[in-house]
Amino acid sequence: MVTLYLQRKDSPMSQCCILAIDTSCDDTSAAVTSGRVILSNVVASQTQLHKQFGGVFPTVAKQAHHEHIDAVVRAALRRANLEIKDIAAIAVTQGPGLAPALEIGIEKAKQLALELHLPLIPINHVESHALSALALPQTKIAQAHQLPQLPALAIVVSGGHTEFILIKKIGEYERLGFTVDDAAGEALDKFGRMIDLGYPAGPIIEQFARKGNPHAYTFPLPMTTSGNANLSFSGLKTAARSLTEKITTDHPLSKQEIYDLCASFQYSVFRAITYKLNKFLLNQKSTPAKNQIFAIWLGGGVASNMALRTAIRKTIRPYNLRLLTPYTKRLCIDNAAMIGVTAGFYFQQKKYLTSEADIQNVQRIPRWKVDQN
Ligand code: KG4
Ligand code: ZN
Repeated sequence: MVTLYLQRKDSPMSQCCILAIDTSCDDTSAAVTSGRVILSNVVASQTQLHKQFGGVFPTVAKQAHHEHIDAVVRAALRRANLEIKDIAAIAVTQGPGLAPALEIGIEKAKQLALELHLPLIPINHVESHALSALALPQTKIAQAHQLPQLPALAIVVSGGHTEFILIKKIGEYERLGFTVDDAAGEALDKFGRMIDLGYPAGPIIEQFARKGNPHAYTFPLPMTTSGNANLSFSGLKTAARSLTEKITTDHPLSKQEIYDLCASFQYSVFRAITYKLNKFLLNQKSTPAKNQIFAIWLGGGVASNMALRTAIRKTIRPYNLRLLTPYTKRLCIDNAAMIGVTAGFYFQQKKYLTSEADIQNVQRIPRWKVDQN
């Protein structure tokens, strides 16, 4: 059971508030959370900075994190109406992510924990995307005691990761499948670059796809014979490149062709995911009842896409499963609130670092897999 932590400054329970930091990629973020409840979630986005490169440039990201981290932490406390003395623990993304970027958040978190004599909770970024659907707004504080039934299947679909994760318990995971090349968001962004949609292309593709025909162009369905839940998106990208090159030898892409390409490419990326999801659910039918999942938890930047949510809902309907999604799109893209919510579970179990030596020893783990401890 999850303890309900209150957010009021004058309450003794405010001792349970966590200040969380995420600098895993191109967003500098800090948040204050209390159990599953989000008190503040501040994100300084670097999207404009990286637009010129068409993707994230690690050293540029590091410099921007360095410039923004203090202001972002201050803003997170201010918006939560708390002071640093009200904080009970510091949480930080230890990995996976871009090594130079991770370093800034970890250094800040270590500094705060040591100066203020607070416990430090290092968190896996993919785990927190997987749990992001559990986050609650302050208006839903009454629900904070109820934890959805487990096991559950988390689908994390972001710019850096596309994974199926079996959640047996919080902290006990099995990585059932993952992309062997590009992540789904990365594939969408690369496709967007091919047809000059700007960066990040995912949200623009979603918008354009609404005006297009998803069956106008056919892309291959990858990994159908792999016998596992792994995914691959690089073949789709290559097919899209040949197709657009073929069309543009004849004439520049018309608006409708762009809409149709977006709809067809997006449809194919999501079909690859729902195909593997359906395979998994079919197999579930023959597993013992105690191992059967209760719900699907969706997280990651691409999880804000309504067409993906609809496709997943359609896939799981015959299995009588529920789809849990983050309550706001701000919790899909990278943010520190999901780090704080994840840390809340570990805080409750007293799984944190307190000694100076242990805190000093925390180092970034850029390729940290969610099922490795
Ligand atoms: O979770 P996130 O902020 O960063 C990673 O951890 O990777 O995800 C960023 C990714 C980008 O690839 C972006 O294009 C994609 O999420 N994205 C979307 C949408 N919003 C963001 N993809 C499709 N539809 C969207 N609405
Ligand atoms: Zn992420």
